[in-house]
Amino acid sequence: MNHNFRIAPSILSADFARLGEEVTKVIEAGADLIHFDVMDNHYVPNLTFGPMVCAALKPYATVPIDVHLMVEPVDDLIQAFAKAGASIITFHPEASRHIDRSLSLIKDAGCQAGLVLNPATPAYVLENVLDRLDMVLLMSVNPGFGGQSFIPHTLEKIRQVRAMLDRYEAQSGRHIAIEVDGGIKTDNIAAVAAAGADTFVAGSAIFGKPDYKTVITEMRGQLAHLG
Ligand code: DX5
Ligand code: ZN
Repeated sequence: MNHNFRIAPSILSADFARLGEEVTKVIEAGADLIHFDVMDNHYVPNLTFGPMVCAALKPYATVPIDVHLMVEPVDDLIQAFAKAGASIITFHPEASRHIDRSLSLIKDAGCQAGLVLNPATPAYVLENVLDRLDMVLLMSVNPGFGGQSFIPHTLEKIRQVRAMLDRYEAQSGRHIAIEVDGGIKTDNIAAVAAAGADTFVAGSAIFGKPDYKTVITEMRGQLAHLG
């Protein structure tokens, strides 16, 4: 069991008129990463923010910025977000013509790299690029909006991918993290962790409550019950 759990609040559900202050508050409340959801109204039917907003928030982000690209194509934005201060960059394999090249762009820019699998994207897309990956992001909703319900079948996918990554770790010595995104709350985070995830995105569960620290502390309490 991996005890190195990380909570990654998604600022998609924060108050966009006060983003810097929201980032500061959620870090004070115990965030390990800031999850930054980039949507382009092309790969997903919604539009959020780009590298200029990431650069503006960078001085407030005293924890790593975890950029989730829901954009197509991805390569130019990978470079822009690396310059804007991202520490982790993940993208959807359907959105890149050349997945290995896009992963190399992330690594060459000095960032950690990850692929994001939608609920219907099969896990085998990971098989030939494991050496390039620091993280796999498993979507537990269809991407595009905060506040959707967790798709229960994701638990099976997490177990499947964890087994694949554990086999890789046994042979390579490299640990690849599993992040899960969508519908995570205090009442399901323990099941998601037990299935093999170690990094948890939560948007509406945290920013939808007045006291972020209470929610994050409750989530950590749920995780502390494991193993
Ligand atoms: C959805 C985004 C998520 C979203 C999660 O496309 O990738 O990061 O903000 O929001 P909640 O936690 O509200 O499901
Ligand atoms: Zn996300």
